[in-house]
Amino acid sequence: MKPSPIDQIRPEDLAVAFGLTDVRLGDRPVVRRHLADLRGCFADEAAFSGALATGNPLLYEVCAVEAAEGDGQLHYGLGILYPGKVGSEYYLTKGHLHAHRPASEVYIGLAGEGAMLLEDEATGASRLVPLGKGRIVYVPGHTAHRTVNTGAEPLVYIGVYPANAGHDYASIAERNFHKVVLERAGVPALVDRDSL
Ligand code: F6R
Ligand code: MN
Repeated sequence: MKPSPIDQIRPEDLAVAFGLTDVRLGDRPVVRRHLADLRGCFADEAAFSGALATGNPLLYEVCAVEAAEGDGQLHYGLGILYPGKVGSEYYLTKGHLHAHRPASEVYIGLAGEGAMLLEDEATGASRLVPLGKGRIVYVPGHTAHRTVNTGAEPLVYIGVYPANAGHDYASIAERNFHKVVLERAGVPALVDRDSL
C-alpha cells in the first residue's frame, strides 16, 4: 500500500519550534547575507563602498523548512532582517521573483517594523506595503518582492510559498527594483531609482 502523505513527512517537520531572536529552525541550514553579498542592491554606490570599508555586518538570515516536494505542497522560511541603513536607504533583502512565476507567497510579520516592496514583472507597477508585528502581506505571482527594515529593531517574519516556487535572483540582479525606500525627514519614502 502506498504510504499516506502524512507518513512521508518526518515527524520533526510536522511541528517546528521557532523563536524571535534566533532564526534557526532545528538543524536546518541557515542562509546568512552580509553587506558584501548585497553589492548592486543599494542605490548609493559610494555609501555602499564606504560602509563596506568599515565592516561587513550581517544584514539578514533565513532558515527554510522544505519538508515535502510536489504539487500542492508548501515550503516556508523564517527571516530576520536587521535594522540599519546604507546612506539613507534602509537595509533590505536581495529580492527575487519566483522561478515558477505564478507562485504567490504569504508573509506573516512577527516582530519589528518594515515593509515589502512589490513590483509587477510585466508593468513595473510598485507597491510599498507594511510588514511587521501583526501584519500579513500577500505577494501575488509574477511579482518581485523585497523586504525592508524601516524600524530600529530586527524585522522577523515567516514566508510561506508553494514547494515548486523556486527563486530567480538573476532577473532582479540585472535590473534591480524601480523604486527605493529611503529615510526622508525621519520617515520612509518611496522614491524612483532613476530620480536619484
Ligand atoms: C521565499 C521568500 C523569503 C525570502 C527571504 C530572503 O520565497 O520570499 O523567505 O527568501 O525574505 O530574501 P531573499 O530570498 O530575496 O534574499
Ligand atoms: Mn519569495
